[in-house]
Amino acid sequence: MTTVTTRHVGLIGWGAIGRVVAAALARRQVPGAELVCLVDNRPLGEAAPAPQVSFEEALERCDLIVEAAGQGVVRARGERVLASGTDLLVASTGALTDDGLTKRLLTTGPGRVYFTGGALGGLDLLQAVRSLGPLDDVRLTTTKLPATLEQPWMDDELLTRMRTATGPVEVMSGTAREVPVKFPRSTNVAASVALAVGDLDAVRVRVVADPAAHHTRHSVEARGAHGSYRFEVAHLPDPGNPATSQVVPYAVLRSLGAIAGRTGQIL
Ligand SMILES: NC(=O)c1ccc[n+]([C@@H]2O[C@H](COP(=O)([O-])OP(=O)(O)OC[C@H]3O[C@@H](n4cnc5c(N)ncnc54)[C@H](O)[C@@H]3O)[C@@H](O)[C@H]2O)c1
Repeated sequence: MTTVTTRHVGLIGWGAIGRVVAAALARRQVPGAELVCLVDNRPLGEAAPAPQVSFEEALERCDLIVEAAGQGVVRARGERVLASGTDLLVASTGALTDDGLTKRLLTTGPGRVYFTGGALGGLDLLQAVRSLGPLDDVRLTTTKLPATLEQPWMDDELLTRMRTATGPVEVMSGTAREVPVKFPRSTNVAASVALAVGDLDAVRVRVVADPAAHHTRHSVEARGAHGSYRFEVAHLPDPGNPATSQVVPYAVLRSLGAIAGRTGQIL
């Protein structure tokens, strides 16, 4: 017999993703998941839909922590969450470019770690395909508005090229190990594809700035002896944080539904 228990959820990060997730949880839109508290490094004020508590207090109150704050939080807090026996759902998958951290997250317990598919589709299928053998060629192209891709390490020449572009400009190409480190808020998808195919170095990533990219586009192509795969998405950016696609909080809510055991869920 299936037993239904309510998951007590703590959310780290009340930003573009966190606000939508928290509001939906507070309205009890995910059966089996209840928002218990919020953790953020700025004061959240009266409008917050649950009490703001310290990280340590959240571990005491919750059995599931949702990270929607940034890669640094996964690095600094991930293992502590799992070691306390609390499950962890990670949005900032870009942190997984650190092999050592990934290994520790996958082996630390008794809490379990989960990763949301975030802005991308098809990761479940790529993960299934791995069982048939390695993929020879995996490519991801991410296209975004130039302003969302500007980084402190960029030189004047590149910044000028991006700011004056009238068409697509390639701003970086490299592996899924190299690229998310250079674009920490924009390329979680690269690390997510690598997680699905099981190899950071096998995923070739291109980051393209395009002044016409009113939708953020991610295109994944993969092929192996057993088949070939192509997924392409185009999302409206979040109005508050254009580096994040509007769909991402809903992907997090969908992941939460699966963890909470929602019936009828496509897994
Ligand atoms: N997997 C995906 O497809 C995907 C897509 C978009 C974003 N993301 C990840 O999700 C993260 C959150 O995205 P967002 O758009 O909501 O960002 P955001 O900047 O709008 O909000 C982040 C929130 O986290 C808080 N925060 C930052 N550092 C913190 C810390 N150390 N402790 C507690 N709170 C902290 C901030 O105050 C803010 O309220 C991004 O940093 C990115 O890594 C993943």
